[in-house]
Amino acid sequence: MTESLELLRGMDAAAREISLEAGAILMNGFRSESTTIGYKSRTDMVTSMDGESERFICSEIWKRFPGHDIVAEEGSGRDRDGEYLWYVDPLDATNNFAHGIPFFCVSIAVMSKSSGRIVCGAVYDPCHDELFSACRGSGALLNGKAIHVSDTADHGRALFSTGFPYDKENMEHNNLEQLARILPQIQCVRRLGSAALDLCYTACGRIDGYWEPMLKPWDTAAGSLILTEAGGTVTRYDGSPFDPEYPEIAATNGRLHGYLVERLTESRDRK
Ligand code: IPD
Ligand code: CA
Ligand code: CA
Repeated sequence: MTESLELLRGMDAAAREISLEAGAILMNGFRSESTTIGYKSRTDMVTSMDGESERFICSEIWKRFPGHDIVAEEGSGRDRDGEYLWYVDPLDATNNFAHGIPFFCVSIAVMSKSSGRIVCGAVYDPCHDELFSACRGSGALLNGKAIHVSDTADHGRALFSTGFPYDKENMEHNNLEQLARILPQIQCVRRLGSAALDLCYTACGRIDGYWEPMLKPWDTAAGSLILTEAGGTVTRYDGSPFDPEYPEIAATNGRLHGYLVERLTESRDRK
């Protein structure tokens, strides 16, 4: 199905507006004594603000698009058998948020089920008042201005980011082997703590690439579109087409993609 321009614009505007409002909700609870903190597992935190933000986002989406489906991290979504599926991460980087570290965001994306493509996405970082957004085919924006990936081609000068799965102590693929292989060869690695912002920072050229093994679609759906619309490349570790339902992501400015995929594939081949 090809979306009507009007519907696409409506979903794009909604994703941007709702993420801004959800970001304001998060800021009310940031470093606040009234925010409660719990644990999904020893390392996976959840706060009262994850739920508050998610309930707001879902109700706003359904107010505007009653027949649309939502997959949301904290479980408020519903399958209504619609053509459009919204992926919602109400608070990406909960660990940063719960520790009082001002680096987290709201991430909202819309996928067309018949094409299997993400058609628009918005990622809002309320601490820095930065709204990243993209509509398929129209480029990527940061606070309304076009953004582009870096032109770094030399991996020796490249700054990458990465992340580690919550249950890293039990997993064979906990990313330590990949990190050990890549880190000595590049400028350095950052662990920013938000997959959605890792992708947006690659999109606007602040970093040159990013990889991570165990992600969920709400982490990557919006950021992957923003990055490709900014001229970057997103695939699985082996270079095959990216699918938000598949857990691993290799993301770069394009020029460094061959380098990253080679390193990630080498690591896997040695298992
Ligand atoms: C997490 C962040 C983190 C990544 C984790 C994600 P959450 O999302 O994106 O950077 O390493 O894999 O689960 O749990 O804070 O929404
Ligand atoms: Ca997340
Ligand atoms: Ca989250």
